[in-house]
Amino acid sequence: MLKVIQLDKTYGQNKHSLKAVNFTAQPGEVTAIIGPSGAGKTTILRSVNQLIRDDGGQILLDDQDIRQANKAELRKIRHHIGMIFQNYNLISPLTALENVLHGRLGAKSTLAGVFGMYSAAEKAEALSLLKEVGLGEYAYQRCDQLSGGQQQRVGIARALMQHPKMILCDEPIASLDPKSTKIVMDILRKLAQEKQLIILINLHQIDIALDYADHIVGINSGEIVFEGASGDVDDQVLQRIYRQAAQPEQAVTANEQ
Ligand SMILES: Nc1ncnc2c1ncn2[C@@H]1O[C@H](COP(=O)(O)OP(=O)(O)OP(=O)(O)O)[C@@H](O)[C@H]1O
Ligand SMILES: [Mg+2]
Repeated sequence: MLKVIQLDKTYGQNKHSLKAVNFTAQPGEVTAIIGPSGAGKTTILRSVNQLIRDDGGQILLDDQDIRQANKAELRKIRHHIGMIFQNYNLISPLTALENVLHGRLGAKSTLAGVFGMYSAAEKAEALSLLKEVGLGEYAYQRCDQLSGGQQQRVGIARALMQHPKMILCDEPIASLDPKSTKIVMDILRKLAQEKQLIILINLHQIDIALDYADHIVGINSGEIVFEGASGDVDDQVLQRIYRQAAQPEQAVTANEQ
């Protein structure tokens, strides 16, 4: 289980981006973080795998506080956290299979990684993961010759190659059409259920979040304003999550009245 407790992040001197953020994400479930642009969704994901340093709190993955890990421990923990990005982050001249094999890099010595030394078993596993995401016949195709939806599926197979406990997805479907969106979200939900993974997704599309996520975390201006089952999200909850902060000029007008 992922347990985020009282997480704080301030960029610069006084720009409070996360304010005492608390939430949990369970294995076997898709957890979606929703909220307006600038609310702090990406900041949460980047803190969870310590790509940025937060300013306080706890991030417990199976009871181990990621924030307290030393460099070597963090490397080990990160190896079991897959990342999926809006822009796929694949290496384009390489084939789908080579990109998936890159998921093993964190588990190899630098030398073996640099020279692309992968065992027959690793190659067989990468191929089988590509088949699992429906891309068996594209294994030897260059990634820049794949559609966006196909590239995102290569990204998922690459994350699975890490044998992850958890996959963090930052806007994984923002660049995809409805058909590819469905394929990618179906795969993520199936992975959560069948492999008992923690899947934590930042999403802008409310309808997709409510359709696919078991658990919803709503954030507004760095504060969690809702956490609960997707079935419990109603119009009132959505208003709370998406309410706009009063603009300074509106505040002035209100004072003058
Ligand atoms: N590197 C940075 N330096 C300073 N401020 C930052 C930095 N990254 C993010 N912020 C600020 O922190 C707040 C939260 O940003 P974040 O990117 O987490 O929002 P988000 O919810 O992911 O937004 P979006 O939906 O647009 O991706 C914003 O006000 C943003 O301007
Ligand atoms: Mg973001």
